[in-house]
Amino acid sequence: MAANFLTKRPRRNRKSEAIRAMVQETWVSTRDLIFPLFLLEGRNQQTEVSSMPGIYRLSADRMLKEIEACLKLGIQAFDIFPAVEDQYKDKTATRSYDPDFFYLKALREIKKQFPEACVITDVAMDPYSSDGHDGFVKDGKIVNDETLEILGRMALAQAETGVDMLGPSDMMDGRVGYIRNILDSNGFTEVSIMSYTAKYASGFYNPFRDALDSAPKFGDKKTYQMNPANRTEALREAELDTEEGADFLMVKPALAYLDIIRLLKDNATLPIAAYNVSGEYAMVKAAAEKGWLDGDRVMKETLLSIKRAGADVILTYFAKEFAATQQAESI
Ligand code: PBG
Repeated sequence: MAANFLTKRPRRNRKSEAIRAMVQETWVSTRDLIFPLFLLEGRNQQTEVSSMPGIYRLSADRMLKEIEACLKLGIQAFDIFPAVEDQYKDKTATRSYDPDFFYLKALREIKKQFPEACVITDVAMDPYSSDGHDGFVKDGKIVNDETLEILGRMALAQAETGVDMLGPSDMMDGRVGYIRNILDSNGFTEVSIMSYTAKYASGFYNPFRDALDSAPKFGDKKTYQMNPANRTEALREAELDTEEGADFLMVKPALAYLDIIRLLKDNATLPIAAYNVSGEYAMVKAAAEKGWLDGDRVMKETLLSIKRAGADVILTYFAKEFAATQQAESI
């Protein structure tokens, strides 16, 4: 056989580590990652989330230390969720806008100690709601417009703590515009909104609901979160959020929705965030514990795939672990 019967050989570009690195199309950097953190009331408190090995709920003092350690590893952005005790929950999520409640107090403290960190909050009723729903429940239904009023109060109270960005995760209609208007009319024109634009009614959120003890007390979230079967509807949500003044569009979950990430990346002009959710983290950890997968390798491949699909930033419980491996490799 003639030695030159093949003139095109893609393998030439894979023949060494140096060449592979030169032709690599996608990179994940610690700077792309947002680390979600779970906040507890009190001091010196730390409890592991049983379905998320390596992830802890932390009281504010411990969280300050954790953020300091993460900043040293190069993580610059944090999304903070409150784990609220049942005694504080009610139908209208009153605690969500009480400036003396531990979540808002901790946010002020975090911004005071680390002004350089990008601190993101969660805007939704479920952590504070006795119904466990993201919206206000009336006659067994999640009502949209009454919910907006509560979300507006919550958003304003969060902005007053000095945080950088709000993350409405509730999926009520019109909430981005409603919140933008309240922020702007109160002088918070510089506070950003990372909208959970295409948030699907997913089975991948269960470990998160364990972490916050926030599972719905009745029914499911299908009247507000999107049907996993739908694509075009994600475009419609993206159009609305863009018009209403969002600064980032998020797709959530990430792995089972890589096509949606790409769809929004190709059709929107805003940066795209993807949420590599609790269940995606738990699957990798569980398989790695059993020795069925190489957890480190699958973590990196997962994050790379989300980036390749078109995400500009990734919310991931792997952030600290990934950052630590990057730092080790660069030494
Ligand atoms: C609720 C909220 C959820 C998550 C973030 N905000 C769960 C839900 O909608 O029930 C899930 C995040 C994760 O699974 O990591 N507002």
